[in-house]
Amino acid sequence: MSGSTPRASKGRIFSGIKPSGNLHLGNYLGAIRNWVSMQRDYDSMFCMVDLHAITVFQDPKELTRNTREVAAGMMASGIDPAACILFVQSHVPAHAELAWVFNCVARLGWLNRMTQFKDKAGKNREASSSGLYVYPNLMAADILVYKATHVPVGEDQKQHVELARDIAAKFNNDYGVNLFPLPEPVIQGPATRVMSLRDGSKKMSKSEMTSDAALIYMTDTADDIAQKIRKATTDPNPLPETVEGLTGRLEAENLVNIMAALSDRTPEQVLQEVAGWQFSQFKSRLTEIAVATLGPITAEMNRLMADPAEIDRALKVGADKARALAAPILKEAYAAVGFLPAI
Ligand code: AMP
Ligand code: TRP
Repeated sequence: MSGSTPRASKGRIFSGIKPSGNLHLGNYLGAIRNWVSMQRDYDSMFCMVDLHAITVFQDPKELTRNTREVAAGMMASGIDPAACILFVQSHVPAHAELAWVFNCVARLGWLNRMTQFKDKAGKNREASSSGLYVYPNLMAADILVYKATHVPVGEDQKQHVELARDIAAKFNNDYGVNLFPLPEPVIQGPATRVMSLRDGSKKMSKSEMTSDAALIYMTDTADDIAQKIRKATTDPNPLPETVEGLTGRLEAENLVNIMAALSDRTPEQVLQEVAGWQFSQFKSRLTEIAVATLGPITAEMNRLMADPAEIDRALKVGADKARALAAPILKEAYAAVGFLPAI
């Protein structure tokens, strides 16, 4: 696939990532890598969702820095701002405007079923922001304000994309229009759910981890990576010959999936290489592969972070294109609702 080939678009993809912490291996393998491979087959839009990030308090300086860093991570991973639209959510007011309409379409009962809200709010539901509760309505607006048809995400976001479908269908039905497509989640690859290195039953996630040793960050040095993999929790048995042999061995399964995703193989193919190995040998091999894949990306991220003006220029171009696409669709939605047209 070459950048100059005119694209035969299979539809429009939209995906987002919260600039609420450092990018980690889950973001890379579950999301960004898939976006890179899809970006030229679809009209592609990738967004730093800062409005979503503040549903949980963010230090303002950190938020600004993280927004650039996530953009740098995407560009360093191969997202090409010339081939797709890379932008910041708060630069395009239509997201928040359509989200308000969706707040009035989505039912409380639907939001009450969202497992991410339950996980994030935890026992402290009363003290959660109201933004955290209506988070999925804003996510539906992100997708539908561009009439996106496909949403490539990690497994954890499937329920939110399904809610976006329900919102699109109810909007179309309530207002008697055929305005919004029903977007499809695209969940692919051997690492749609990367687990913590310390506990194979917990998702690798910045917010839910007590220790940095549980996550590999995209900014980690080769030494950091080696140390974290060396300390990763495992079990005492050698690696099995078949994927069935990984059943009930959550940590082993996670590390095999990570190796598979990093080396573009299936877990079966990885096990052909490593069956019978002790974890010490497996971990050295995994470290080699992780450093070889992530090292060049980290170096390019660092180069971009040293030149924020280059990042900001790319994001301005993206925001201009996104605003132009969103404006007429928001207008159609407002007209369907019956808002008096502004003159
Ligand atoms: P977030 O950092 O929560 O905004 O997530 C951005 C993207 O990364 C979403 O598509 C998530 O589904 C994906 N993602 C986040 N954590 C993981 C994980 N541990 N495994 C796989 N995908 C993930
Ligand atoms: N909720 C997603 C996450 O936590 C991020 C996101 C926001 C998103 N808006 C989106 C993903 C629209 C896909 C499409 O990862």
